Amino acid sequence: MPTLKQLALESLTHMVEGGQERLAVDDEARGILRQWMQRARLGTRPSASAAEAELSVEQKLDYLRQRAADWKPARQLGTLRETMVFAVGNPRARLMLVGEAPGYEEERQGEPFVGPAGQLLTRILAAMGMQRSEVYISNVCKFRPSMGDNQGTGNRPPNAEELAACLPLILAEIRAIRPACIVCLGGSSAKGLLGTQEGVNALRGKWLECQSVPVRVTYHPSYLLRNEALSARRALWEDMMAVMQHLGMPISEKQQNYFR
Ligand code: URA
Repeated sequence: MPTLKQLALESLTHMVEGGQERLAVDDEARGILRQWMQRARLGTRPSASAAEAELSVEQKLDYLRQRAADWKPARQLGTLRETMVFAVGNPRARLMLVGEAPGYEEERQGEPFVGPAGQLLTRILAAMGMQRSEVYISNVCKFRPSMGDNQGTGNRPPNAEELAACLPLILAEIRAIRPACIVCLGGSSAKGLLGTQEGVNALRGKWLECQSVPVRVTYHPSYLLRNEALSARRALWEDMMAVMQHLGMPISEKQQNYFR
């Protein structure tokens, strides 16, 4: 069980990351905080980061999932739908894949990447020799962006405000998991994690960084569903081979020649 102090530290970190600059504290809370500060200065108690490190990855993710369900910065916008779709996969994964936001099918099933784009992603992972359960799959935005009353099965990408509101959650997931590398699937994910306005074409083909974790940007699987050109498939596959190489996975001659 996480201690009260660990939960308080996590909470305060998320408030700061969510843009909150002030917090009303009563005298009792002020006294406790003062004690913590004095002990930290004297080195008699674990520092904030050591206390955070005491939580297991699973505990951190459980906590984040709970926070996400009631994530005020996103709820306050009023432009995202009600259902929160968190993440799926292995909390101890070496590979983390980050998409943009849940769509119709993801919202219905409460799991990222389970619709048509998700099925393609599962096939891409299989071509790499990996299963969904081995990797960690998440989104920069945890709620399906709303398109009003007649949305039906329609989806839209999250806008800049919606991305910014949800960003602290995915950044905290990355800190909890510390994967060996991250793949940004599509431009929204890259915008969020890398804080860039550049598009996928300019960003792919090189290693970038988010919170000191190597990042590779590639096309969103839904782009490949719309554009079946061999060159687009090959480009995504080359990005995935770079990831495999980074992870020290063997690449067979057959794999090297896919989509040539
Ligand atoms: N597209 C995404 O970016 N994420 C999902 O979870 C599903 C489709």
